[in-house]
Amino acid sequence: MSEQVWKAHDYDRQLSFVSAYGKGVVELLTPQPGERILDLGCGTGDLANEISASGAHVTGMDDSAEMIERAKSKYPGLTFLAGDGENFDTESPYDAIFSNAALHWMKDADGVVRSVYGALKPGGRFVAEFGGKGNIDGIYQALKTVFADHYGMDADTRNPWYFPSLGQYTTLLESHGFRVRIAHHFDRPTKLPEGKDGVKYWLLHFGDRFFAGFSAEEKDEAIARISQAARATLWREDAFYADYKRLRVFAEKVS
Ligand code: BEZ
Repeated sequence: MSEQVWKAHDYDRQLSFVSAYGKGVVELLTPQPGERILDLGCGTGDLANEISASGAHVTGMDDSAEMIERAKSKYPGLTFLAGDGENFDTESPYDAIFSNAALHWMKDADGVVRSVYGALKPGGRFVAEFGGKGNIDGIYQALKTVFADHYGMDADTRNPWYFPSLGQYTTLLESHGFRVRIAHHFDRPTKLPEGKDGVKYWLLHFGDRFFAGFSAEEKDEAIARISQAARATLWREDAFYADYKRLRVFAEKVS
């Protein structure tokens, strides 16, 4: 099955809302001068750069080589490395690990939390935001219906995302030894760019996995059907609004 392909230039040009929303998560992190901080799933590095403005020493990690290459060229003064968020370690533990809009791509959440715990100093902070239970359900339900009705397929078998409830995720954090200080599951309807093509555009950027094995024509046709099916719940006046539901957590490694 084909994996999500990241187009780093497009990501910067057209999906800047992803890092713009992440600025609130940086505030929750409150990075301090001299701290060692890992940005897990750093994409093209904008938030790593934002964090480094505090005087912290930031390392950005992402499993997409293309994203890392672009991050290095945009921010040559920062450290970026390619790595697997579900299974990593470090020789020099971090004061904090930060992540925005990345953990929902890592289905082995147990591996992520184990790796994060192991890579933090005692008392270290884990501050993250990602899609929680019910995230983008309007798009997903439209996609599921179209796949079942027109292609005889169960879209769940291709779903690349992990959207836990608050209870599931805080339980996971605690089971690894974290003390969860803040957890918040909230709605953040997000206006999609490109007007009536908003859902098409979103699926072209984030939905690769679902269309593995489709011809270009079949993919266009399926996306048009999904877009039409999503109109009833997500269209407002001049644009589609994706029903993002975020899970934001602040946890500490108990020493
Ligand atoms: C999100 O930010 O919630 C998201 C983005 C792409 C795919 C799935 C979820």
